[in-house]
Amino acid sequence: MQLPSSITQASRGSLDTLVLSNAFGRCEISLFGAHVLSYVPQSDQRERLWLSQSAIFDGISAIRGGVPVCWPWFSDNHGNRQEDLPSHGYVRKQQWTLNDCKDDDNGTAVTLVPQSVQGPGFDYAAQLKIVVHLGEQLSITLVTRNLGSEPFPLSCALHTYFAVEDIQRSELIGLKGEYLDKTRGFDTFSTPSPYRFTMETDRIHLDAAEHLTIQHPGGVTEVDSSGHNSIVVWNPWQDKATAMADMREDGYLTMLCVETAVTGDVSLAPGQTLALQQRIG
Ligand code: BG6
Repeated sequence: MQLPSSITQASRGSLDTLVLSNAFGRCEISLFGAHVLSYVPQSDQRERLWLSQSAIFDGISAIRGGVPVCWPWFSDNHGNRQEDLPSHGYVRKQQWTLNDCKDDDNGTAVTLVPQSVQGPGFDYAAQLKIVVHLGEQLSITLVTRNLGSEPFPLSCALHTYFAVEDIQRSELIGLKGEYLDKTRGFDTFSTPSPYRFTMETDRIHLDAAEHLTIQHPGGVTEVDSSGHNSIVVWNPWQDKATAMADMREDGYLTMLCVETAVTGDVSLAPGQTLALQQRIG
């Protein structure tokens, strides 16, 4: 495919990447996982995404940081008791292909499709694509369509790791209502106000907030979401970060995951399309 001058090919470790660069900013996408690795708006030249200094770019391991694509299930919500199904589904560990690209006054867009939508734990007739658009904001849209004649269960997420200058001086603004706390047996709690971070945080917020703000000493990041039914907020804190091979023990200090997600028992009817979108500014 002929690439416009705003898209160039590059690499990280053994991974092929696409670099989008235009008047609005710059972003880099790994074809392995259709995984956005970096986004820097032109306006302030500040990196919005956190990427682990120990991230593994071997084309086998999931990438720690950026925007992992969780599909066709979020976490271990695959409705199947087999323990060996991968966390967050399998497309984040697949090679994706560039299917389309577009460049106009509103920005640059690429569409990627995965190697295969079917895998252990999911054998439905589905179509999946991701559209990454670098314009005034970075917008990432994960589109699932049911091509079959029976409904199928689906959960998914754009599992974005945002860069913050100091997690202990950061605040997440815009969430309300209740959340399920994975660190406390999925019990239900009320969203704190102000929402700050002092310990391991692993929460499914049942409030499908459309607009969130992350305020931290280095600046402000805006997060807009649509097509979701929940927002997941995650920081592993020190002990869990230390236990991860692909995260430095102090890595947790400069990241916050705010994930636009579809969680729970959602079913996609035949012919139905779900467009999960996160826009970052
Ligand atoms: C979050 C989950 O979305 O992802 C956490 O709520 C999980 O429980 C985290 O630990 C990271 O998952 P993984 O599979 O990328 O290590």
